[in-house]
Amino acid sequence: MSKNKFYVTTPIYYVNDAPHIGHAYTTILADVLARFHRELGDDVFFLTGLDEHGQKVEQAAQKRGMAPQAHCDDLAPRFRDLWTRLEISHDDFIRTTESRHVKVVQAILQSVYDKGDIYQKEYEGLYSVAEERFITEKEAESGQFREVKTIKEKNYFFKMSKYQERLIKYIEDHPQLIRPEHRKNEMLGFLRQPLGDLCISRPKSRLSWGIEIPFDRDYVTYVWFDALINYITAPGYGTDEQKFKHWWPASVQLIGKDILTTHCIYWTTMLFALDLPLPETIFAHGWWLIGDSKMSKSLGNVIKPLDLIEQHGVDAVRYYLMAEMVLGADCNFTPENFIKRYNSDLANDFGNLLNRVSGLIGKYFESVVPPCVEPTPADLEIVRQGEALGVKVQALLQEYKVDAAINEIMNLIRAVNKYMEVQAPWKLAKTDLPSAGRVLYVATEALRLSAVLLRAVMPQKAERVLEILGAQGTGLAWGGLKAGTKLETHPPLFPRIEVEKQ
Ligand code: ME8
Ligand code: MG
Repeated sequence: MSKNKFYVTTPIYYVNDAPHIGHAYTTILADVLARFHRELGDDVFFLTGLDEHGQKVEQAAQKRGMAPQAHCDDLAPRFRDLWTRLEISHDDFIRTTESRHVKVVQAILQSVYDKGDIYQKEYEGLYSVAEERFITEKEAESGQFREVKTIKEKNYFFKMSKYQERLIKYIEDHPQLIRPEHRKNEMLGFLRQPLGDLCISRPKSRLSWGIEIPFDRDYVTYVWFDALINYITAPGYGTDEQKFKHWWPASVQLIGKDILTTHCIYWTTMLFALDLPLPETIFAHGWWLIGDSKMSKSLGNVIKPLDLIEQHGVDAVRYYLMAEMVLGADCNFTPENFIKRYNSDLANDFGNLLNRVSGLIGKYFESVVPPCVEPTPADLEIVRQGEALGVKVQALLQEYKVDAAINEIMNLIRAVNKYMEVQAPWKLAKTDLPSAGRVLYVATEALRLSAVLLRAVMPQKAERVLEILGAQGTGLAWGGLKAGTKLETHPPLFPRIEVEKQ
């Protein structure tokens, strides 16, 4: 396979509070895709970062009695540290207050202004303080926007309306641009009404925490116009043309469905104005809910990833988030569901298979992997499933169906556990040691394959399994486990969570 380029982004999160499970989810999802593509041998650029300007951040700083920049500098490490704890393997971490970004935003503003796509006018309209943007009457009626008030002021506008027809046509011609499909339809529905122009400035008298507009120093840039540009700042737009040409357009831009319009309408038309290609895919996932509400900083109903990591370990947290949420749909977070899935998938299925094979190979083969001689049809059925798994998982991951991919891997693990029950190598060992060895080889090799595939999701524990099996660096071809290898002894990797203790 030739080396493909894979550029993946997460939203840049507001530094108004510490990150929660929702932010961790998108970032882990991007990490899983990045790791998976690196394993395929692709050339990967994985970008995440922080959105540090605008009203939300200014207000958060005010509340803490801090200057906005000091507030950002104080909170940024919480994100960085969490990503380190979560084994996030990003290649760049951008903060919008960095000068590399400010310069690019100002250069873009100037060039779009010179081109005639930015103009000034007095405008009176409905403004959602919570969402930090002007909204349409129809949006206000939907009741989805909080803190709506009427604002009248002189501002700069980006001629978004000019690109409406072109965008509709582009979306229709590129069905992979907005995914899942129902989000594409939602955006096409939105585009059925006339698209207004986008207010991209804020008078300093109302908000001063932002990037100064280069052609009018009384204004700062609207936070979304600033923030979206991060996706091209980082790969070198305007500063390193060669690097930029290599990475842009992004392969996939992951977002939550809360920021669908800003990405699918604002961002795409901004790229049109800049004569830049659109990303291949903008993928919007659903929300983590607590009860019926979105988990959110403003509602204060958040689950802190660090608490979960401390209790159950990084891999369990990553696994749970990736396996539990059907990509594109909302998902309820409850501690009960977490424990249930951990116990069933990781303790009972995956962990148990490891304990069984290493225990039995320990007991009957002095921990040395036995050979597989004269496989039976039952053995060959597992071999067939194991060989088919890699292709299946890769196809699902290319479609961003991480949960479905994990489920396929777990299906193999479950099939192998069943096969062990039926073959009962612990009984065979008493009368026919080579047959017991054959079964244990097949089961252990299937476990190894699963661990290779789970490495993107559980980098520490999957690697540990491969270490125990003496199979680090092995790939997806059947037979990577070598007879004669000495297994390491190990405590259970995924001890059951006893519910009483919780
Ligand atoms: O919107 N469930 O930042 P933000 C799932 N700065 N994902 C969730 C979530 C939940 N309950 N809550 C948050 C912003 N997320 C802007 C983005 S991009 C140029 C600027 C995740 O801190 C999800 O990815 O509000 C969502 O889109 C993002 O965090 C919003 O983070
Ligand atoms: Mg938000």
